[in-house]
Amino acid sequence: MNVPKSNLEFIDIGGVKIEHTAVLAPMASVADHAFRLICRNFGAAAVTSEMVSAKGICYGDKKSAELLAVTDTERPMAVQLFGSEPDFMAKAAIQAAARRPDIIDINCGCPVPKVTGIGAGSALMKDVELLGRIVKAVVNAVDIPVTVKIRRGWSLSSENAVEAAQAAEQNGAAAVTVHARTKEQLYSGKADLETIAKVKRAVNIPVIGNGDVDSAEAAKAMYDATGCDLIMVGRAACGRPWIFSQIKSYLTDGTVIPEPETNEQLDIMISHIELLVKDKGEYIGMKEARKHAAWYLKGKKNATEYRRMCGTLSSLGDLYGLVKRVREENP
Ligand SMILES: Cc1cc2nc3c(=O)[nH]c(=O)nc-3n(C[C@H](O)[C@H](O)[C@H](O)COP(=O)(O)O)c2cc1C
Repeated sequence: MNVPKSNLEFIDIGGVKIEHTAVLAPMASVADHAFRLICRNFGAAAVTSEMVSAKGICYGDKKSAELLAVTDTERPMAVQLFGSEPDFMAKAAIQAAARRPDIIDINCGCPVPKVTGIGAGSALMKDVELLGRIVKAVVNAVDIPVTVKIRRGWSLSSENAVEAAQAAEQNGAAAVTVHARTKEQLYSGKADLETIAKVKRAVNIPVIGNGDVDSAEAAKAMYDATGCDLIMVGRAACGRPWIFSQIKSYLTDGTVIPEPETNEQLDIMISHIELLVKDKGEYIGMKEARKHAAWYLKGKKNATEYRRMCGTLSSLGDLYGLVKRVREENP
């Protein structure tokens, strides 16, 4: 599948130029180096790391340090930090910046209890003053742009995306991403485009719209309805990294690129999982590949059986065997 050449403009985020198409969302346990690279190769305008614990970095946790890795082929790339204490966030940001990401992003949207329980992630939507102090501490600590990813609010009765975005801007953030759902909604209901539009009207920094973009048409609809500067795609890229190519093409000249043929999809899945195994070794790589394989095979004939088989993949040999069967049964 060819990635179209575009004539689209670039958005400037604190001096980092990002093509005016769609960026890949940060996704813990999903958006690792292999997945980010596949998405970049399909035209994702930028990528973000999985969220990394500020305390984990400060206390020398090996896994956290690994999550900070940035490779040149992924750029522009942001590293995302979560935490609730300005000092730790600043110290972690200095260590993260030493790995030379293009941007540091601050997570103010994660709804997982392990994260909100320490006052981080979406819990910061309940304390916008603290959110502002964290942004300021990180901005003062590093010399690269700092962005902030927020939600619509903690709950529908306490919607405050505009206040949170303004606090981020006033404290030096270079852009803000809005996942237009509240923490209480988790991933249910629909992302509220009006929230993104309101934030866009309220701040002067670039606004990145996020939530439910699952097609090129939905990407354009989010741009049109909100006036946002960029859009971010998460779940719809899982098992469909070519969505970035489709979005780019549609925004460039209105061309609708169809889904790749099954054979091509399977080739893409194989190169993705081979890269994952190269990065992490076969034992861990194949464990992590299981969910990706199930996403790629969703909707195929006999998908229920494939899903079960994906759950037991342990080697690249298992993968090639499964792919052979899928090709035979889905001509
Ligand atoms: C598996 C998974 C992991 C996620 N991890 C993160 C994360 O580490 N940091 C973050 O800010 N958001 C995280 N998110 C939220 C996404 O970045 C995004 O805001 C959300 O999925 C809505 O966008 P979408 O409708 O395009 O998926 C995660 C979402 C999913 C599904």
